[in-house]
Amino acid sequence: MSHILEVKDLSLHYLTRFGQKVSAVTDVSFTMKQGEILGIAGESGCGKSTLVNGLMGLFIPPLYPTGGDVLVSGESLMNRTPQDIRKNILSQKVSMIPQGAFNALNPTRKIKDIAADVMAAHSASQGKNISKHDIYKRLKDRFDLFGMETEHILNSFPIQLTAGERQRSVIGISTLLNPKVVIADEPTSALDVTTQKVVIKMIFDLLEKNIFSTMIFITHELPLLRHVAHNIAIMYAGEFVEYGTAVQVVHDPRHPYTKALMGAMLSADSEQKNRKPTTIEGAPPSLAKKIEGCRFADRCPSARPECKKNTQNLKTVGGRLVRCDYAE
Ligand SMILES: Nc1ncnc2c1ncn2[C@@H]1O[C@H](COP(=O)(O)OP(=O)(O)O)[C@@H](O)[C@H]1O
Ligand SMILES: [Mg+2]
Repeated sequence: MSHILEVKDLSLHYLTRFGQKVSAVTDVSFTMKQGEILGIAGESGCGKSTLVNGLMGLFIPPLYPTGGDVLVSGESLMNRTPQDIRKNILSQKVSMIPQGAFNALNPTRKIKDIAADVMAAHSASQGKNISKHDIYKRLKDRFDLFGMETEHILNSFPIQLTAGERQRSVIGISTLLNPKVVIADEPTSALDVTTQKVVIKMIFDLLEKNIFSTMIFITHELPLLRHVAHNIAIMYAGEFVEYGTAVQVVHDPRHPYTKALMGAMLSADSEQKNRKPTTIEGAPPSLAKKIEGCRFADRCPSARPECKKNTQNLKTVGGRLVRCDYAE
């Protein structure tokens, strides 16, 4: 079966004002089939959101591609202008449900106008001219599907809505054109637990109704991914350090970082009812410098002296990929 998304050795960097190169994503490769849900987890600053921009082909300075390729249904997203990507790829082929719905919505426009713009831009790029009336009808039908208070939401400005209504509006708008691949970048962070559940349910309603079927779900909550994803990739310092099925990664992690991440989450889970952000002793290394040897060595409980010298490559361990010479 052909792949809907193919990512080949993708590396991305930022160029800071001081001319410093920050290697935020290094040599990431994976493929996705239609209907697959991939979870990506890792601490803050590991390159998850940067990877998302790369997967949309959206390179806005200071972010640049260093190398590699991203193909959606066989079509490369590399070497294209942001205008081309916005017109022909975003919302239609790849769509992102962003972190922080508030910033994603233009505060001066009503939800129905923001959504109508997305549809109008799309129909214009297809050389079609849909009437305003038809656009609103399609919008209303779609928002009704979610069991939302459609009239109220569509006729409100973002500020007039609750955090949950705003996030659901963002999800509604970003999936309006039935994109082939949906990327949800920590869609529930900054929401309270009740609203988080509503948002997760909405995403699953959309999957069930076949509005979209292929999704990348990014979160730093591994336990949530266990219920949601088929496959899981763990990111550390810009690299995939483990990649396998959800069951393999969550129930039988093999990379010391995945184990630490799971341990931190489970202990936070049992000590208090609501989960706390992950805490593992120490911090990820700076991506502004070249890193010798294993990137996790400084924090790894089972590091050996040679780990700080030897570059680690992904290899198959226990049926999944692990970036650790000593994993078994
Ligand atoms: N505009 C930027 N300029 C320079 N470095 C950046 C910029 N944005 C992010 N970074 C760096 O890129 C790395 C990855 O960040 P990000 O992709 O946001 O991680 P995550 O989403 O996993 O928290 C971090 O080290 C971050 O400091
Ligand atoms: Mg992020």
